[in-house]
Amino acid sequence: MKRFLSFVATVLLFAGCQHPGTEPGDTEMDTYISDLMSKMTTQEKIGQLNLVTPGGGILTGSVVSTDVEQKIKTGQVGGIFGVYGPEKTRQAQRLAVEESRLGIPMIFGSDVIHGYKTTFPLPIGLSCTWDMELIKQTASVAAKEATADGIFWNFSPMVDVSRDPRWGRISEGAGEDPFLGSEIAKAMVEGYQQKDLRDPTTMLATVKHFALYGAPEAGRDYNTVDMSHLRMFNDYFPPYKAAIEAGVGSVMTSFNDVDGVPASGNKWLLTTILRDMWGFDGFVVSDYTSVNEMIAHGLGDLQQVSAMALKAGLDMDMVGEGFLTTLTQSLEEGMVSEEDINKACRRILEAKYKLGLFQDPYLYFNADRPATDILTPVHRQLARQAAARSMVLLKNDEQLLPLKKSGTVALVGPLVDSRNNMLGTWAPTGEARYAVTVLEGFNNVLGDQVKILHAKGANICNDPDFAKKINVFGPKIFIDERSPEAMLKEAISLARRADVIIAVVGEATEMSGESSSRTDISLPMSQKKLLRELEKTGRPLVVVNMSGRPMAIGEEVELADALLQMWHAGIEGGNALADVLFGDYNPSGKLTATFPVNVGQVPIYYSIRNTGRPQGSDEFQKFKSNYLDAPNSPLFPFGYGLSYTSFEYKDLILDKPTLTNLDEIKVSVSVTNSGDYDGEEVVQLYVRDMVASITPPMRLLKGFNKVFIPKGDTKEVTFTIRAQDLAFYHPDLSFYAEPGEFKVFVGGNSNASLSASFTLE
Ligand code: BGC
Repeated sequence: MKRFLSFVATVLLFAGCQHPGTEPGDTEMDTYISDLMSKMTTQEKIGQLNLVTPGGGILTGSVVSTDVEQKIKTGQVGGIFGVYGPEKTRQAQRLAVEESRLGIPMIFGSDVIHGYKTTFPLPIGLSCTWDMELIKQTASVAAKEATADGIFWNFSPMVDVSRDPRWGRISEGAGEDPFLGSEIAKAMVEGYQQKDLRDPTTMLATVKHFALYGAPEAGRDYNTVDMSHLRMFNDYFPPYKAAIEAGVGSVMTSFNDVDGVPASGNKWLLTTILRDMWGFDGFVVSDYTSVNEMIAHGLGDLQQVSAMALKAGLDMDMVGEGFLTTLTQSLEEGMVSEEDINKACRRILEAKYKLGLFQDPYLYFNADRPATDILTPVHRQLARQAAARSMVLLKNDEQLLPLKKSGTVALVGPLVDSRNNMLGTWAPTGEARYAVTVLEGFNNVLGDQVKILHAKGANICNDPDFAKKINVFGPKIFIDERSPEAMLKEAISLARRADVIIAVVGEATEMSGESSSRTDISLPMSQKKLLRELEKTGRPLVVVNMSGRPMAIGEEVELADALLQMWHAGIEGGNALADVLFGDYNPSGKLTATFPVNVGQVPIYYSIRNTGRPQGSDEFQKFKSNYLDAPNSPLFPFGYGLSYTSFEYKDLILDKPTLTNLDEIKVSVSVTNSGDYDGEEVVQLYVRDMVASITPPMRLLKGFNKVFIPKGDTKEVTFTIRAQDLAFYHPDLSFYAEPGEFKVFVGGNSNASLSASFTLE
């Protein structure tokens, strides 16, 4: 039996959290709010729990709030979302402040997922930068722009771990890994909230979707989640917890159930874990009508589910108005108490206090700011850098890339000149008209140095019924009037005249995102055919895949000489792509979600546990854990990504052979840039617990460091491992590391082979 390091458990489980700008037990705030609440009627308190949207923007449900103006004036609204611009938001706030009985200001929210107007790459793309400083900067730029437009409460970051690329919202998160996901969660919360929530360029963040939204059965959005507590605590909870430790102001529930109880009414999640274990002291908001949806889940009528949600620890009801319309009656009938309502109301008022709204309800409505703070050249420059850094080079045979800025290029594919598909999904505040297309980016970067021949070559897909589903928020799949054969013919004849072909293929933006799950994650047949024909021309073929999810693109990898995963790269995507392909930026992105060989391998992730019948190689072996028709190995593993240069790892050194719970081990490695270009490498550290009381993962990411190394140079990269970094949750939810042998692996992806061992005493 191993000794326990349970001190770690105590420290980490009960680490409380505090919002920037307030002290724990802020008596001034408490007094102010107690005084205010003593003047409020029960109806007015319930009004604070109501979040409305008057519509007009992109709505993710079928319900829109009605009579919003009247409700504000009568104290029935605590917050509002989907209203933009300092004039409009000021007008709405004026109704609350000057026309409602107590003049309590409202909180103004929105989904600012990957930038406000300056749209950055999709979060999954941004995560591939592994650059926390950059990610933080994008969040602070988003906050600056959103607050300039009157929005100071953000429904971001989305930190749902996902190992299932069928699920469309994998695009909105940071991929499959809890360690990396936690670092990103923290960077984003810090970027949005900064140090002082009263600073009118910062916004209150919301970590979502609590919890486990990224693991729906069969990858189908909103579907049932059923998972062991071990997996929840070790693999899926850490990023939410990290956001809470970083002081996130609010938490949004998820649509799915957890252990059979929908998250919005799940007391174990919202009270036991969130508040009692993690010490969260902000407020919890439901997802869009998720309280009402508990009726369909089979939990009772609106009154029952609303009472259940409030008692579980939900504070604010988004759009559905179950709280507004049933809590008074539930109070009379004893289903909820005044205390339940008071608790929720106080938490919402506290957030308003921390935002400085009681000092100045119009703090965020400055009509001069949009002109100076939104879409500035500096912001766009950051978007271009972020986009270039998010792209992942997956193949580069015979150093085809970077291309020379000379000769003739055939730029082919349905996403070459497709402004509507540049921003990526869930960019409701972005505007496609500001986006730089691939074709424009090439012209900007290359001028007349390179002759560009352009043809569409294929539709994103040829199926009008499919296109209709994708085009709900405007045209994303445009089916050409020309026949597929005519388009193909044109593309092939151009390709034959070029020195190199660049084919930009992939998904339309709405092929990923909310309610965009797919059972087939390969390239649509129209585009496959295009690539097959292009390959036959014998010209060097560069394939660029624009998508919101990892895709099963094995055939495309075979057809291409070079392949770049571009994601949906945002407003500067076109410029950034040209920067990368023509060598102005040497790619440094690394995958944060495994690319499967086919959909049958899903769910797929690197941190697997060994079975009792592990398969030694990818060779099929009877009675081993493997498939008859596919290997176990993915197409591309987590952490993978090439550079135009090459990196060599050697001299992995541990500064001591044993670790105790009082000290730390330093792991160092030499990384040499042995190629012909300056470049950056994400040096990754994985650890394997060799023997444990529960089946340990084969390796777990425990550190990373992105370093710039000029060609020919060597850098020593050092990591620190402490006992608490090796801790994990046990079946009784205690959290500690178990003594014994550990192996470390260091390298440029999750298959890193350079290794060394140490013992934890
Ligand atoms: C999404 C949330 C989003 C909310 C408000 C929901 O459909 O799941 O992520 O914040 O809509 O727009």
